Amino acid sequence: MPKNIEGFSKFNKEQKVNWIASTFFSDQQQATRLLKKYWNTDLQLQKLHDDFIENTITNFYLPLGVAPNFLINQKYYAIPMAVEESSVVAAASNAAKFWENRGGFKTQVINTEKTGQVHFLFKGDKQKLLHFFNYIKPKLIVQTDSITKNMRKRGGGILDIELKDKTHAHPNYYQLHATFDTLDAMGANFINSCLEQFAKTLQKEAHNNLAFSDEDNLEIIMSIVSNYAPNCLVKASVSCPIEALSEKGVDGLEFARKFQAAVSIANVEPYRAVTHNKGVMNGVDAVIIATGNDFRAVEAGAHAYAVKNGQYKSLTNASINNGVFKFWIEIPITLGTVGGLTALHPLARLCLEMLDNPSAKQLMQIVAVAGLAQNFAAIRSLITTGIQKGHMKMHLKNILNQLKATKTETEKVIAQFGNQTISHKAVCDFVEKIRS
Ligand code: MEV
Repeated sequence: MPKNIEGFSKFNKEQKVNWIASTFFSDQQQATRLLKKYWNTDLQLQKLHDDFIENTITNFYLPLGVAPNFLINQKYYAIPMAVEESSVVAAASNAAKFWENRGGFKTQVINTEKTGQVHFLFKGDKQKLLHFFNYIKPKLIVQTDSITKNMRKRGGGILDIELKDKTHAHPNYYQLHATFDTLDAMGANFINSCLEQFAKTLQKEAHNNLAFSDEDNLEIIMSIVSNYAPNCLVKASVSCPIEALSEKGVDGLEFARKFQAAVSIANVEPYRAVTHNKGVMNGVDAVIIATGNDFRAVEAGAHAYAVKNGQYKSLTNASINNGVFKFWIEIPITLGTVGGLTALHPLARLCLEMLDNPSAKQLMQIVAVAGLAQNFAAIRSLITTGIQKGHMKMHLKNILNQLKATKTETEKVIAQFGNQTISHKAVCDFVEKIRS
């Protein structure tokens, strides 16, 4: 049977499932049954999800958890997190609890500027291009009026457009580098629409401009939002006197020193920094997904920011000054709380309501806190018990599910392993033993 197909997107869902099941699975019925098991019985809800993307065949679940007790700027939040990794929500909850009694999290939006670029080639005289750009700049803006009208009414819109000479990096390469304020919208569609209009205006005006000859040849390559957003930055921090870090036999000063050393290591060692920041993104992505935002955009932007000075570094920092321990994050986060999936996905809407319907600026702060808390919890484990103890404790349920353990077997496993660091093999061996 051929494994390629013409016109797949024209099939209805049933036909798509049938073709996939009959083409790629030895047990066609089993595959079909599983795919259909995840269809929602509420047909309207299912249709809504089907329409999010092309060629939907079923739903793919992620658990939605909640990390309560987050005290942020003196207000309590229960933070919704959509994530598959066992220990992430537990770690966030622990960090929230830890800082709740030590002053909570403080946050600040530094700026909210987003960027988009029209990339083009131009073979002619640079000075002529600059004069031409200055002449057409008002036109570039006016000709987007119908696109920007609503955004302007609410106080946002295009902030500026610059002509950038990039010919040192690539032959004949220039940009229109535009900045935007998209308020509570993520803004990618708005920005892309403006950019495509800039490109049309640029092309048309260049064509009509008598100062340019045919050989000058202005050629538009592409127009697209940038997911690098170093000027859409948010900061979140925690701090407390060093002695307040002491607990359960852990000395506050020793903890603070080791913690600071762990962050410093991530600042000088990229192999460690990537994992360190992956831990940050465990928290960030989970909230971004739960609120219907684009985690790939935030991921790409955050990692680019981590390498902004030429070496990949930690997104978080720690200091000890005058007996005070401080830990903070500075991270670019582009997101929206209106439009897109935030309005369309019922659970994203519910999560936003759980967060008291935040503005985009407020949600940036909550997301940054989730990232900082996650990183705090990871480093705290790493420099004390090690990561595996908590991680495998949370993962135990997955191992028991994999083994299809009964209630009695589960109880026996928990009694046996108690507070120890669990390994997958040890649990399997133990279950096998009690079964035999
Ligand atoms: C695991 O998902 C994340 C950690 O590796 C982060 C870190 O090492 O800091 C625990």
